[in-house]
Amino acid sequence: MRIVFDVGGSVLVPDEPDVDFIGKIAYELIKISEDHEVAVVVGGGKVAREYIRAAKSFSPNETFKDYIGIHITRANAMLLIAALGEKAYPFVIQDFRKAWEVIQLKKIPIMGGTHPGHTTDAVSALLAEYLQADLLVVVTNVDGVYDSDPRKNPNARKLSRITVDQLVGIAMEGESRAGGSSVVDALAAKFIQRGRIKTIIVGKEDARHLFDVIKGKHSGTVVEP
Ligand code: UTP
Repeated sequence: MRIVFDVGGSVLVPDEPDVDFIGKIAYELIKISEDHEVAVVVGGGKVAREYIRAAKSFSPNETFKDYIGIHITRANAMLLIAALGEKAYPFVIQDFRKAWEVIQLKKIPIMGGTHPGHTTDAVSALLAEYLQADLLVVVTNVDGVYDSDPRKNPNARKLSRITVDQLVGIAMEGESRAGGSSVVDALAAKFIQRGRIKTIIVGKEDARHLFDVIKGKHSGTVVEP
């Protein structure tokens, strides 16, 4: 299989880099890469948000702030490259075609952000579409997709299987609420729909066993194309 992993910055670097987790996920990715082609996109998380907030004090320029966010995602990507050692291509990839080339070299391409105006969720969905990946695995700080916001509704139910149309609906609803967010952003959900990409959304605990996750052993949500 060809598999793209979308690892949220908030999972990799919650307050400071989670060295234990980064090491564990690198170990799992190396194991998976023995039998599969693997590419990874890394997010910016809290650090990116803090830098963007600080920049707001000086500039109203949204695109400029996006560039700051992109830099942070790439710093996080470098951490994963360090943990993967020889198995990773030593530069953060900025172009989907280069990611394809690196896969041909039997190395793991690691990407962060690419262009202003979206998040790394969208990057990973586009990468999966470009590479014609068999699977996209999203690792996020919620352990799957819920029927309502689990942080606000204690009775929220986790959905083990949804259609991509449902994912788009949930993502759009999340973004239309003030300060709202969803497990995958709406643009990424649209790209997953367009690319007809089979997607698994899991939390940090499942991500410690990514080798099992790709075989279907996890407690997250499967999105059917
Ligand atoms: P993230 O992808 O990390 O956003 O990008 P996030 O939704 O906060 O994700 P988590 O917490 O890591 O899961 C951080 C910021 O970097 C800019 C955007 O401003 C985004 O909010 N960015 C990122 C881009 O402009 N383009 C990209 O391709 C990626």
